[in-house]
Amino acid sequence: MKRISIAIDGLSASGKSTLAQGVARALNYLYIDTGAMYRAVTLFALREKLIDREGQLDEEGMKAALPRVYLTFRFNPGSGKSEVCLNGRNVEKEIRSHEVSRHVSVVARLPEVREKLVLAQRRMGETGGVVMDGRDIGTVVLPDAEVKFFMTASIEARGQRRFLELQRKGRSVSLEDVVDNLKERDRIDSTRDHSPLMQAEDAIVIDNSDLSIEQQFDHMMACVQQVLHA
Ligand code: DC
Repeated sequence: MKRISIAIDGLSASGKSTLAQGVARALNYLYIDTGAMYRAVTLFALREKLIDREGQLDEEGMKAALPRVYLTFRFNPGSGKSEVCLNGRNVEKEIRSHEVSRHVSVVARLPEVREKLVLAQRRMGETGGVVMDGRDIGTVVLPDAEVKFFMTASIEARGQRRFLELQRKGRSVSLEDVVDNLKERDRIDSTRDHSPLMQAEDAIVIDNSDLSIEQQFDHMMACVQQVLHA
């Protein structure tokens, strides 16, 4: 059976990663969470004090520091997920903080950051057998992916989902703050000059505001099977 590449793009908290992980597991493919890579660079920038109190990124400092950012993934059999490591240390937990979420868009819009990460992502995807999720996978990173999905959901559905996720993790943050952060990230991610969030022309659109995870999974697997058996 051929091993294809599957690109999953979409808005923040549209449920991409849950589905991407499920599809990767079902096919025994590698799952690559590219958002985790942008988050890890943001964590690095915060630690290096390259982001000030107003949320401004020291762009020159960031560019100069980029050669010191080394990202890898390590499979965690417990979570069944590949977790991101920053300079050899697993930072999967730290990168999900509200602090990182608040600042990631300003880091992700820097062209030098994107060039470095896109190159690494293409290398990981070049052999096929991958499910990669992000914002620019179907358009920029893997434009030749055999199957592309674009996931959307209403801001209410996404806000509620992310809020519950943070609550489960014991983080104290209001629904209003979560929704504001999502709106702001949507705005920056969709309007940046360098590879903004965009739907690939050949992507299959899934609006999952009213779909269960099982319904989405079944639909996505049916699309994948169609390509695998074509
Ligand atoms: O998927 P996520 O919410 O974990 O992504 C975090 C941020 O990284 C998001 O605000 C946009 C950015 N991102 C990006 O610009 N390109 C990608 N391929 C993946 C994520």
